[in-house]
Parts: sequence; structure tokens; C-alpha cells
Amino acid sequence: MADLLLTGIGELVTNDPGRDGLLGVVDDAAVAVKGGRVAWVGPEDSVPREFRQLPELDCAGRAVIPGFVDSHTHLVFGGNRADEFARRLRGESYEEIMAAGGGIQSTVEATRATDSSTLLDDAVQRARRMLGTGTTTVEVKSGYGLDRDTELRMLETAASITEYVPLDVVATFLGAHVVPAEYRDDRESYVGLIIDQMLADAGKLAVFCDVFCDEGAFTVDEARRILTAAADHGLQPRLHANQLGHSGGAALAAELGAVTADHLDHLTDADIAGLEAAGTVGVLFPTVSLSLNLEPPPARRLWDAGVTVAIATDCNPGTSYVENMQLVIALATLTSGLTPEEALWAATRGGARALQLEDKGWIGPGSAADLVMLEADSYLEIPYRPGTDLVRMVIKDGAAVVS
Ligand code: NIG
Ligand code: FE
Repeated sequence: MADLLLTGIGELVTNDPGRDGLLGVVDDAAVAVKGGRVAWVGPEDSVPREFRQLPELDCAGRAVIPGFVDSHTHLVFGGNRADEFARRLRGESYEEIMAAGGGIQSTVEATRATDSSTLLDDAVQRARRMLGTGTTTVEVKSGYGLDRDTELRMLETAASITEYVPLDVVATFLGAHVVPAEYRDDRESYVGLIIDQMLADAGKLAVFCDVFCDEGAFTVDEARRILTAAADHGLQPRLHANQLGHSGGAALAAELGAVTADHLDHLTDADIAGLEAAGTVGVLFPTVSLSLNLEPPPARRLWDAGVTVAIATDCNPGTSYVENMQLVIALATLTSGLTPEEALWAATRGGARALQLEDKGWIGPGSAADLVMLEADSYLEIPYRPGTDLVRMVIKDGAAVVS
């Protein structure tokens, strides 16, 4: 297990609530790592004697931040939808393409037809690019199988990523993404299939159960039944909610005390109050609105109402083929009304809250030693220089895995 003493940190973002400001920044800092966990954090001139002999890494004045926690992705998929992207740029809407059998359904067909080793290899390449751009924990959903075997194959693929890429993967079962084409005239049977034949096995492979509750996907009643049954198999509730319209998904998330409600592009004040009261984390995707040419997510409204906000890539082949959380941070500030410090917090500690990972997304005694050294002296350069990869080094569990 790795031991390390990082010195010469010009600006250390700790996200430690015991320190000043949202980000708990410490200037001219050092971080001691013992056994792959953070053991001590503070000014460099006060490193305790017991840590002074650890192998030293001089950061030469650069900024160090917690590794990004990308709390919502559809990383495992077959095929590619660049053609649909071009159609959208020519004026067709996401909903029109979906209603015509494209969209999610076309990725379902491609995923079913992709063998397991190709599925894994493609997912590994994406995960590698994520790690290389600073993501140390990623959530991965199923949802492009929509039959028992392919859904489970997707969850197994998600788990296998960690054999090849040193980042943490948290799996989510999204068998209720859309009703697959073969059940279009009998959606009740598909809901029954999920509840009776998928949830028990999914519960052994995933932490969360997610439902896409929106026009063209699942109704509030269907989502409630699925998420209630999922809880019996130990799966925590999440919802794709209020992305395409006022679906009632956000209110259902509040009613169920869901861990997260994701997208949230259409919200009433009552929805927001409900999410705040339920302690549900709002997970937002500035890249999705950009890709769909829609209004940016209401990050400012949610933050000001006291809802815990996370931002994530939503990496998927349709609405956001984005792997880089630095771009998400840039857009959260440039389009969605968050300040640089709020955006960085939402990409790190907010993401960890969305995944219920208490030791991630901050840097302090007892936290994971998942750290990113920037090729910059301040985190502010992330939104200031969108499109530039500012990651100099990634440290996972105290070991340099990208440098
Ligand atoms: O999070 N909203 C539903 N699901 C995905 C889109 C998936 C796709 O288009 O393939 C999302 O945006
Ligand atoms: Fe999604």
C-alpha cells in the first residue's frame, strides 16, 4: 500500500468542511499518505515528524485537487450514434429521433449485437480516457440491454473495467431505461419482467437502481413500482427525472427519498423544495443541454435552494459522448450559473454525495488518497481554459497511475 508525502502544493483544494470556504483551500500545502489513505493535510512548514521520511513528491507550486467523481455515466455501450448527432444538428429533435425508433433503442440493438470482449474493450478505452483527465471514481449504468442477459452482461462488464483501469466503478441497474421495441404494445409485461426476473440478479451486481421517468420512457407509477421492488433487493433509488418535460419524476424522487434525481431540466419551485427536504442530490449535465441545443440545467436555482448539486458527464452515445470532467466544470460555470468553486465542488464532493461515498471527493485524514495534480497553479484555470487537459498527474489510492 502506497505511502507518499506531497510537498510544494501551491494550492490544495481539500473540500474539508472544517476549513475555510466551500473548497477548504490550503496554500503552500503538503499531504501525507499512509497505506493508500490520506493521513495528514496542512501547511508544508508544519509536516509532523512521523511523515517527513515518507517518499516525497514535489508538486513545484502546482494545484492539487480531489479526483473527480463522475456520478452518472452510460459508459458501456455498443455502436455509435454520430449519424443521429448530425441529424440533430440539421434540426430533428431528440424526441423525434427516439419516436422513430432511433435514440436509445438503436443503441440497445447495437449493444445486444456486440460481443462481451468488444463491449469491455470499448468501455476500458473510455475509462482510461476518464482516468487520464482526472476521474478517479465513475458510476456506470446498464440500460442498453433491456433483456435479462444483456442487462446483466452490461453490469458484469462495468465490474470488469477495474481489472484494466485503476479507477473505482459503482454500478447502477437501469433496466427501466425505455420499454424495448418488442414490448411496445405490452409495457406492463416489461415492467413485470424487470421486477420478477431482473432485480434479484441486478441486486448482486449493482448498488443503485435507476429509472428514466419521462415522456417516451416510464411513468411515475411504473417508476415507483420498480424502485420500491428494487429496494427489496438492496438497490438504492435514483431517477432520470424531468429531462424532457415536467414528468413528475422529481416529485417521485422526493417522495421516495431517492439518493439522486438526475437531469432536472424542467422544475417547479415545489419540485425543488421537495428535493431539498428529501436530501436528494441533484445531478446535472451541462454537456447534455449543449448537445441537445436546450437551456442549460438550473444549477443556480437548485444550489440557492439548498439542494446538494453534483455535475457529471452523463457519458453516453446519444446526448453526451463526453468523458472529460474538466469540460463539464467549464460548462457548469460558462452556461449553468455555478461559480468555479461551486462547479469544482459539484464535480468532486457533490459526485461523492451522489454515490454515497463518504471517503471520496475530499482530501483530509481518513479520506481516499485519490488526488489530481494540475498543470496549473490554481483550479480556476479549469473553467478559464476549456478544452485544455490540465491534468499533470493522477494519484489513485496513493499511487501515481497517470503521469
Ligand atoms: O441520460 N435520458 C436518458 N438516457 C440518457 C440518454 C441515453 C441515450 O440517448 O442513449 C441520458 O441522457
Ligand atoms: Fe443518463
